[in-house]
Amino acid sequence: MSSSHSATSTTRRLEGKVALITGGASGIGESTARLFVQHGAKVLIADVQDELGHALCQEFSSQETFSYVHCDVTNESDVKNAVDTAVSKYGKLDIMFNNAGIGGKAESGILTSTNENFKRVFDVNVFGSFLGAKHAARVMIPAKKGCILFTSSGASVCYMDTASNAYTASKNAVVGLAKNLCVELGQYGIRVNSISPFGVATPLFTKSLKLGKKEAEELISSTGNLKGWF
Ligand SMILES: NC(=O)c1ccc[n+]([C@@H]2O[C@H](COP(=O)([O-])OP(=O)(O)OC[C@H]3O[C@@H](n4cnc5c(N)ncnc54)[C@H](O)[C@@H]3O)[C@@H](O)[C@H]2O)c1
Repeated sequence: MSSSHSATSTTRRLEGKVALITGGASGIGESTARLFVQHGAKVLIADVQDELGHALCQEFSSQETFSYVHCDVTNESDVKNAVDTAVSKYGKLDIMFNNAGIGGKAESGILTSTNENFKRVFDVNVFGSFLGAKHAARVMIPAKKGCILFTSSGASVCYMDTASNAYTASKNAVVGLAKNLCVELGQYGIRVNSISPFGVATPLFTKSLKLGKKEAEELISSTGNLKGWF
């Protein structure tokens, strides 16, 4: 994915901000990272796909704007290190985008679902988001400002038989976590929001439905109900 939007000096809405994006080496996280840089932010992407992460860094001329850190969001010391790296490299953390996620294995129903898959999907999508929020709050509470974002899913509001129980339940949990943190962290000037995208033809989507990018985009378009408006 790429963003064709080019921010002008008057619309650079993130000038001087520092953002950490988990799952930033691919898909929605990668596109967000590019957009944030266009808007003037310094971005640290955190992912387990080291080759993709380093390749993205090569596109940007200087580490003063864009860098990569290896981080498995299910590992607390990795998440702590990612937050501390953002602060030591760029001086602060304004935006924590807990975006890393997995679809898990395709399941045909609850009777054939495996406990391992359910636990793994929760580990990455929910526990990983919790750890990201926890370590971001650690540095944002003393600063009395910040923005914590999550990627949930349309699966938290619409229910279809294509999404597994594990994925749907995990994305509902992410919304619950975000709502609870809104109440807790508002007093410190920290805003918390969760985004629930509809289908996007990223590797997560195309692999889980075993479709090519073009076929995936056609499927998404045919099932969307806002055709032609965006
Ligand atoms: N693509 C869609 O249609 C869609 C729709 C709704 C929500 N989402 C959500 O958007 C988010 C981003 O997914 P995407 O579609 O861009 O897929 P993607 O596979 O392109 O990107 C996900 C990234 O997360 C990383 N990741 C996975 N496990 C990780 C871990 N343990 N630690 C660190 N990084 C890890 C992957 O390496 C990958 O780079 C996910 O949370 C996904 O559930 C996607």
